[in-house]
Amino acid sequence: MTGTVVIGSQFGDEGKGKVTDFYGKNTDLVVRYQGGNNAGHTVVIGDQVLKFHLLPSGVAQGKRILIGAGVVLDPRVLKKEVEEFKEKVDLGIDPRTHIIMPWHNLEDEGREDSRGKTKIGTTKRGIGPAYADKAQRVGIRFEDLVDKNRLAEKIRDIFPVKKAILEKVYDLKLPFNENSVLEEYSKLGELFRPMLSDVSLEVCTALDDEKRVLFEGAQGTFLDNDFGTYPFVTSSHPISGGVSTGVGMPLNKINRIIGIVKAYTTRVGFGPFPTELNDEIGTHLVETGKEFGTTTGRKRRVGWLDLPMMKTSMRLNGFSEIAITKLDVLSGLEKVKVCTSYNVGDKKIDLFPYSNKGLENAVANYKEFDGFTITGKEKNYSDLDENAKKYLDFIEKEIGAPIKLVSIGPGREETVLK
Ligand code: GDP
Ligand code: IMO
Ligand code: MG
Repeated sequence: MTGTVVIGSQFGDEGKGKVTDFYGKNTDLVVRYQGGNNAGHTVVIGDQVLKFHLLPSGVAQGKRILIGAGVVLDPRVLKKEVEEFKEKVDLGIDPRTHIIMPWHNLEDEGREDSRGKTKIGTTKRGIGPAYADKAQRVGIRFEDLVDKNRLAEKIRDIFPVKKAILEKVYDLKLPFNENSVLEEYSKLGELFRPMLSDVSLEVCTALDDEKRVLFEGAQGTFLDNDFGTYPFVTSSHPISGGVSTGVGMPLNKINRIIGIVKAYTTRVGFGPFPTELNDEIGTHLVETGKEFGTTTGRKRRVGWLDLPMMKTSMRLNGFSEIAITKLDVLSGLEKVKVCTSYNVGDKKIDLFPYSNKGLENAVANYKEFDGFTITGKEKNYSDLDENAKKYLDFIEKEIGAPIKLVSIGPGREETVLK
């Protein structure tokens, strides 16, 4: 039994797409289990750049891919992505998966625009409102989308409430009506009906049959709805525990948890960021690392690697190993810093706190390393610059999980194993 999970250890965009593709070669199934098309996962093969928002990155290796019940699925986006990669798509969708309806995008927009100071900076993809409807038990599921009568019934129930909220609370104009939504979405349902699969059953059976399954997390640990920097979080559970509820699978089917750690930190959207750099080094990291959002194109905020965050991530996820990404982006800097603790008020702390309170004024304490050079041509771990190895050794020891993979460029081949 080989159930492997790929987890974003930070605020998302750690390089989950690249690592999923790398390990995807030796796997049978690749499964998304939470989040939706707020994600943007990149796979680079030679001069081809593939971006996945909803489809698992396993497409790039031509594997069977599955979307589990914990995902929120926008069928308009799915149609586009399936058309883009059509000859390579062998997809199964769980009937319990909730559907992002067009009113969810508007609700997301309306709520964000009315929030003022507490704006989250969401991707406006309707993620929060779709999960809210699921929790309120008024959501539309994939099993409803593929059955026109059920869909009509559901839309009839929900539409008047959504219309009232959007028009009266958010003062928005609706570019659709009840009939146009039914017309469009029942067609999408028909298109995707052949893909219906009980993903919980398919995955558990595959694992029992000694197949290898790779679970591709989206977002990152500190965007977790409970354990992230609430309210500046997403509405799902990107931590490793999310895989069990997102697929419908017992915890003991997972035997490998890979934490993806970017060699520095980035964040898109608002919320605390104790090691954020607003200086020329920050600008250098944005430019060298091409730190612009894969989904929204927004410039990512950047900062040094944060070990209190990483140790907390280790506690929340139980990484059995670490994959370090974007080490090459630090190449050429005179000094590389890593945060070892913060001063919050008169307290020194070395774990990420449970509350944002005081975090905006946290002062990070750093350990400094001599700079190093990464060419991207290194083939083995032993080829890496000695100073880079010192940096990695320190990170490994502090986090408490072995580094097994180091990514030294966006390309599939720009990867060394330890
Ligand atoms: P994900 O959301 O975790 O899958 O990450 P994204 O794809 O949103 O962002 C990671 C970005 O960094 C993408 O543009 C990748 O192609 C790129 N990338 C991944 N690994 C490396 C690396 O080791 N070095 C460099 N320079 N870029 C990388
Ligand atoms: P991947 O899978 C980085 C952020 C948004 C915002 C917050 C809430 O590519 O790592 P949402 O639209 O989910 O309600 O937005 O979460 N966010 C991400 N940041 N990478 C992602 O996905 C993200 N998905 C959501 O920027 O701050
Ligand atoms: Mg991304």
